[in-house]
Amino acid sequence: MAHWAEHGIVRVTRMQGKVVVITGGTSGIGEVAAERLAGMGARIVLVARDRTRGEAALSRLRSRNKSLAHFIHHGDLSRISEMKRLAAEIAAAEPRIDVLINNAGAMFGSRQVTPDNLELTFAVNHMAYFALTLGLSERLFTSSPARVVNTASAAHRGNKLDFDDLQSTRGYSGFKVYGRSKLCNILFTRELSRRWSGKGVTANCLHPGFVATRFGDGSGGFLSLGTRVAKTFAISPEKGAETIVYLASSPEVANVSGGYFYQCRPATPTAEARDDATAQRLWLESAKLAGIEE
Ligand SMILES: NC(=O)c1ccc[n+]([C@@H]2O[C@H](COP(=O)([O-])OP(=O)(O)OC[C@H]3O[C@@H](n4cnc5c(N)ncnc54)[C@H](OP(=O)(O)O)[C@@H]3O)[C@@H](O)[C@H]2O)c1
Repeated sequence: MAHWAEHGIVRVTRMQGKVVVITGGTSGIGEVAAERLAGMGARIVLVARDRTRGEAALSRLRSRNKSLAHFIHHGDLSRISEMKRLAAEIAAAEPRIDVLINNAGAMFGSRQVTPDNLELTFAVNHMAYFALTLGLSERLFTSSPARVVNTASAAHRGNKLDFDDLQSTRGYSGFKVYGRSKLCNILFTRELSRRWSGKGVTANCLHPGFVATRFGDGSGGFLSLGTRVAKTFAISPEKGAETIVYLASSPEVANVSGGYFYQCRPATPTAEARDDATAQRLWLESAKLAGIEE
């Protein structure tokens, strides 16, 4: 159960009977969001790459409420074939999906390329959001009203997309490339909301704040050191998860779509993140890269 204070009235939100699919629910803000939503009565479907961490997260969820048949699908979201396989597997297993939370993300100190020839940050942080959402589109439409929640970041600020170098082959900087992937999250949310208007499925994204999670620990080199030091000033995962839970469950945003939120309130991303032509072009390029027909 969650309480949202509005005009002095405390609203109680329940999620009984709702199914929430979440990526990155094995750690950090995704793990807290999954536990909170489960506490409100939602059945959680985790998507996890690491079997041990995934099973541990699933057992924690199951131990809190034995009557909800929480479930897990395993797969590495850096591979396009895996994004598609996971979407097909989840769609086959779940007759309805009320909320899809795309939250798994990472940052890498050095440039790495996936077997699909994609730069790794772009693949995990953007392409997985894109391919999983499109792969689950029919389920979301038939479950209407449904919601898509994308974890973005204020790290999008100061960045611009270069369509001649989406895979960051030139002058790689881990933090810049991460920032661009988070810009993609906002642009994707914007275009998704536009394309799906009238389908009964909303799409919103958020900045969770600077949160002390495992984020950055595996980035390598200076990035890991830098994030470790910076985390002494960070907020808790419990606080960081609040806007995800809000967007996934609050009646206040039931009919809001295309927004970027921070601290459970609408916020304004940069002009680059509000550019409809860029959002459309990113969609077309992503569909081509994923081999998804429109
Ligand atoms: N922490 C912050 O200050 C901050 C600020 C703004 C935005 N964000 C965003 O918040 C989201 C969650 O990050 P967090 O801070 O909670 O970090 P975290 O503790 O490192 O959690 C990241 C999650 O993503 C999963 N993941 C990473 N790569 C994956 C892959 N290839 N396939 C499947 N799952 C994968 C991780 O799985 P494992 O458990 O297997 O590692 C983990 O569950 C990210 O999108 C991040 O960009 C974080």
